[in-house]
Amino acid sequence: MCGIVGYIGKKDCTKILLDSLSKLEYRGYDSAGIAVFENSEIRVEKTKGRIAQLEEKIHRNGWINGSCGIGHTRWATHGEPSDVNSHPHGNANISIVHNGIIENYSKIKAFLETKGYVFESQTDTETVAKLLDYYYNGDPIDAIRNVISDIEGSYALGILFKDFPNKIYAVRKDSPLIVGVGDDEAFIASDIPAFLKFTNKYYLLETNEIVVLDNGKAEIFDKHGFTIQKELMVADWDMEAAEKGGYEHFMLKEINEQPSAISSTISPRIADGMPNLNECGLTQEKLASYSNIFVVACGTAMHAGLVGKYVIEQIGRIPVTVDVASEFRYRNPIITNKDLVIVVSQSGETADTLEALRLSKKMGADTLAIVNVVGSSISREADMVIYTHAGLEISVASTKAYSVQIAVFYLLAFELAYAKGAISKEECMRLTKELESVPAMLEIVLKQDVICKYVASTLVNAENLLYIGRGLDYAMSMEGSLKLKEISYIHSESYAAGELKHGTISLVTDAMPVIAVATQRNLFDKTVSNAKEVKARGGKVIFVTHNYINVDDDVADYKIGLPTIDDLLMPMLTVVPLQLIAYYTSVLRGNDVDKPRNLAKSVTVE
Ligand code: F6R
Repeated sequence: MCGIVGYIGKKDCTKILLDSLSKLEYRGYDSAGIAVFENSEIRVEKTKGRIAQLEEKIHRNGWINGSCGIGHTRWATHGEPSDVNSHPHGNANISIVHNGIIENYSKIKAFLETKGYVFESQTDTETVAKLLDYYYNGDPIDAIRNVISDIEGSYALGILFKDFPNKIYAVRKDSPLIVGVGDDEAFIASDIPAFLKFTNKYYLLETNEIVVLDNGKAEIFDKHGFTIQKELMVADWDMEAAEKGGYEHFMLKEINEQPSAISSTISPRIADGMPNLNECGLTQEKLASYSNIFVVACGTAMHAGLVGKYVIEQIGRIPVTVDVASEFRYRNPIITNKDLVIVVSQSGETADTLEALRLSKKMGADTLAIVNVVGSSISREADMVIYTHAGLEISVASTKAYSVQIAVFYLLAFELAYAKGAISKEECMRLTKELESVPAMLEIVLKQDVICKYVASTLVNAENLLYIGRGLDYAMSMEGSLKLKEISYIHSESYAAGELKHGTISLVTDAMPVIAVATQRNLFDKTVSNAKEVKARGGKVIFVTHNYINVDDDVADYKIGLPTIDDLLMPMLTVVPLQLIAYYTSVLRGNDVDKPRNLAKSVTVE
């Protein structure tokens, strides 16, 4: 979703803002703009379209020479993508960029209209710009404090005041914004990659803290206007993490990073062959004490929760309910202080997941966040946090973040099952050892690249696709289907294989390929029967199963084989060919793999 950057220093600000915005392209956007101080005036350039178009426009209109400014990539919420709706908004005296949604903007707009303000865009952001102008009486902090006490919703704001050339003001609530500090220069940004080339030191801003960047320094004020000292954080990512490193796309790079990402996630959490999650305060006694577990998340993170449900219920014997966060928060869920709510999020900023977490806390449940981005809102608000250590995930389609999330669920399930006495220490150690073998197994699976590419070539002209599976394979079908549809734009659905004949099989024709996932050997024969039913109706079947299992012609057209580990852990291997099939199908269809249309990496609005 929208990306914000800001720079103050001695370098060419326009160049840095454009470069920093390009590092946030992965967040998804449809227009871009910047505002830079030039000879003490604020000059704004903005356009619908890509950053390259913005750069062209700036070249056409004359480069903006300055060393302090703000920039924005907009993902449209209020009003279509257009030049006028693009950020920055404001006037000759005040210029702002905004990420988030101002929920009461209509009311504020109506009020400002009575004061003579005229609006030209359809955005909620213009209301904030005009409200700032209304309150401004020479003191920017005062004006900002008044504005944030009036507006409702989520916001990260970067602001320039003409009266204070070479200063940047910023504030946030429920939308990410961090402050980077380098040598004689400072930045604001929605995410670290925007300034990682220049510095890896940054401050996190809490709700309604106001930062002023001045002369390359950052001064931070609390909501009452008092200066505060904050801990300077250091990102352990380097530029390599933010570059493609020889791969054609970030998605392919991130798929290939899964073995090392999983090792980083699990290694520090295994001691003497046993899982150990004490670091987050989740003792074995606590784990064994919960009556119910809820997993709440969105999209791919929710699919990771489904794997968690199967595994925890299978070996830990605690009921697990998995919810889409946007449903959970409005369905008046029945949770108590005997329950554990696990929220899962790569970004740690997903608006619905964050609200679901807040609701769960209010209802008295213990909350555990499985999060990738260190210091993100969800990680800061949950009672307990397990960081997944996947490193930077840039491609919009989540791959390695999913794998590490399920790796955490395995550790959790093993420890919980042992704590409850549902499995012996020997069994717990055996399963943990199997998990430790996954990275090496994955290196083998990644070599299936060629077959996945071939299968993709058979799907490239399909308009519809089905994914089927049972048990854990059904959870994998859901993730495989989402991955394919979001980047290839082929319509696809996942179905519990046994459910197919209750309606959906009527869709099966020779134009409807079916990917059948069958790694759970206790369910294998049943899925084979379902695949045969598809084949008998002219459908083309791609069968994903163990390497050693032979698949007859009346079952499948193509087989993708996987090495064998304990069936419970097969999802860790199964996901890779599903990701690769989606990836190559998207490439072959000529799509923008890393930035699929209409999607944003971090969904900070509900
Ligand atoms: C799909 C995808 C999304 C995210 C979802 C949640 O590839 O990436 O479905 O999984 O938007 O995002 P996070 O994990 O950041 O909360």
